[in-house]
Amino acid sequence: MTDLNDIRDVTTLKERIAAELSAARDRTLAYTDTDDYLLTRQHSPLMSPLVWDLAHVGNFEELWVLRKAAGLPPMRPELDDLYDAFTHPREDRPSLPLLGPEEARRYISDVRSRTYDVLDTVDFDDPDPLRGGGHVFGLVLQHEHQHAETMLATLQLSRQPGVVGDGTLPPARTRSRSESPEVHIPGGIFTMGAGAAAGLGAASRPWAYDNERPAHRMFLGSYWIDRHPVTNGAYIAFIEAGGYREPQWWSPDGWEWVERSGVEAPLYWTKDEDTWWRLRFGRQEPVPEDEPVIHVSWYEADAYARWAGKRLPSEAEWEKACGGRLYPWGDQEPGPEHANLGHRASRPAPVGAFPEGASPYGVEQLVGDVWEWTDSCFRGYPGFRSFPYREYSEVFFGESYRVLRGGSWATHPSAIRTTFRNWDLPVRRQIFSGFRCARSELL
Ligand SMILES: [Fe+2]
Repeated sequence: MTDLNDIRDVTTLKERIAAELSAARDRTLAYTDTDDYLLTRQHSPLMSPLVWDLAHVGNFEELWVLRKAAGLPPMRPELDDLYDAFTHPREDRPSLPLLGPEEARRYISDVRSRTYDVLDTVDFDDPDPLRGGGHVFGLVLQHEHQHAETMLATLQLSRQPGVVGDGTLPPARTRSRSESPEVHIPGGIFTMGAGAAAGLGAASRPWAYDNERPAHRMFLGSYWIDRHPVTNGAYIAFIEAGGYREPQWWSPDGWEWVERSGVEAPLYWTKDEDTWWRLRFGRQEPVPEDEPVIHVSWYEADAYARWAGKRLPSEAEWEKACGGRLYPWGDQEPGPEHANLGHRASRPAPVGAFPEGASPYGVEQLVGDVWEWTDSCFRGYPGFRSFPYREYSEVFFGESYRVLRGGSWATHPSAIRTTFRNWDLPVRRQIFSGFRCARSELL
């Protein structure tokens, strides 16, 4: 696999984009290849019915590729309001007159055939920021993959067995005893944000979102960061030590959440005698101790870190630990030896499974497995300019949302890089979220 940014020949680039779009669509259709009841029911007020995501993916593509980039008239103007994520909150979406599953499939397929026509004829040298370099195709491709991940989170919430497939993952490598569980990152100036990766100017990165730009230099003091994400086994030690009963480990908001919700373990976990079990896509299984913990809120991550005598890394510390490249291992596209991405299996891989995916500092599994909560609130970088629309990220800036980094097992390789920023509310844990800890260097 080559980097899309390195493809200089336009025909080759267009063929590659068409193949990527088609693979994303296969994935969307696979996750919605189930009975109408499962597609139209709302499994949680946190999520849309799957059939909403299905038609929304096509509506977004129609809006951006066909109308805004190619100037075509609307195909179904009455759909815009129904599938605008800002008009109707998720809990209201089941009561809307949504397209049924068959009609939704037909609509998104009609949009897609026109998208291919636009791709054939569009001029990638066009100065228009949507058409130039094919930016708009990167936008809809990543959007579709992001919704595929959302669909997996919804399917997990549905607790329905037999819908989501599993696969195999590499085992944990044997680690030497001398290998420290933490990695030291020396202080200094580093460049954060898209454009920082070697050989890639900010303007030539058609795939980066507005919130990843502009690249900017900043100073960080030296710190330690965990070599791997925190495992289930380590998290069980926190629970067994009474972590959920001790307010001293929790932020004030976090403790209020524990008291109000009564949570005492990650989402989907139960305890039977001495064994912890988890529900994964409708099936119960013992919690594997060597996998990164998943389905924890920011509050839980923050409390664990305090209990462990550490803290969550800032997103700058997380990004610096990647070593200033497109991916922690370099600029080469993700291969099976690098990371657990793209739903190879429906779970994180054991820690130590990807030595070849380590960053130059030796930090492992930064990309893939679990989204990693950071201590940072979601804000614009200095000089931020919204593109192509304010609602993609700017309206979420502020104190409410915490940043997650690195993608999960459910994230497609086309929708992740070391500069990619995800964000969510600190109570959320239906997403594929975990974390690693950091600590400042004691002087
Ligand atoms: Fe969307």
